[in-house]
Amino acid sequence: MEKNFFPINQRRLRADRHIRELSAGVKLSHRSFIQPLFVDEAIQSPREVNGLNGVKVETIETVLQSIEHSIKSGIHKFLLFPVPAKQQETQFDFGYAVSVVKAIKSNFGEDVWLASDLCLCSYTTHGHCGILNDDHSRLENSKTAEVLAHYSSLLANAGVDCIAPSDMTDGRIGAIRSRLNSLNMEEVSIMSYAAKFSSQFYGPFRDACHSSPKSRGLQNRKTYQLSPGNMNDALASALRDEKEGADIIMVKPAALYTDIIAKVKAQTLRPVAAYHVSGEYAAVELLAAQGLLKRDAAHLEVWTALQRSGADIIISYAAAEAREWIENMEF
Ligand code: PBG
Repeated sequence: MEKNFFPINQRRLRADRHIRELSAGVKLSHRSFIQPLFVDEAIQSPREVNGLNGVKVETIETVLQSIEHSIKSGIHKFLLFPVPAKQQETQFDFGYAVSVVKAIKSNFGEDVWLASDLCLCSYTTHGHCGILNDDHSRLENSKTAEVLAHYSSLLANAGVDCIAPSDMTDGRIGAIRSRLNSLNMEEVSIMSYAAKFSSQFYGPFRDACHSSPKSRGLQNRKTYQLSPGNMNDALASALRDEKEGADIIMVKPAALYTDIIAKVKAQTLRPVAAYHVSGEYAAVELLAAQGLLKRDAAHLEVWTALQRSGADIIISYAAAEAREWIENMEF
């Protein structure tokens, strides 16, 4: 060994909270966050969702109050999930979703950025994300894309700022973009659930939106959502959606898929959104409720991991708490 060799002491950069804060590459901001909102036409008062602490399925009246509360907490960006009272096989009534968007935008205008989820899973009797063929063995791709393009034009017309298709039908981004453009709604953006995996971790959400697949044919979403082991499919789907006109590329779930976030980020110049989904969120909440971890610190650690992996945007059920937690974050 050389005479003047000093082992580099990594621990100098860990010595106190000031130097730890200075040296951390990731500094979170509540400005990156989107808060999901659930509204259900069939309910008279807010309903709790098992596993989703702090989040309720709301009525139009109460969702306006929740938005106001979030704005006071510095959160202005929302992702809306409208649940209609009536489920059907093909002829869907999008009137409720339209009226929720109108209520939110007429109350808050440009003070909020409102994205609406675009999917048929809470509209269909069988809970699948699109129209099925007669024996329910297959998703009817072009019919579904056509209905989604129509639905997107209604939401855009109602004043939504962004359309967020979560269905995974092939070609829907292109169909939506060209429909919106042909109606002079070029300014409405698209956040594509581009790398959306077929996951166990959507459980609490499906409870909230009554969207579990319950068909006599297809039993799960594996023929249209991605297989957890398939990196190439995730990249191909993300790049295809970008080409078709997606403005924001989403990876979902998030915490189990940080490798996908990093790879997508390396291949696109679009902002990348990470959706910390209901089951991932509930896992943290349940551990916190058992006293096995600290709730705020655990969510902050997850968010840090998402941003470190390349996420520009974080969708979290605790978004409304992000500013306070981040301000008081201990490095
Ligand atoms: C609907 C949809 C799902 C989620 C968002 N949009 C569920 C699914 O695909 O089954 C999941 C969100 C979450 O779990 O937080 N297609």
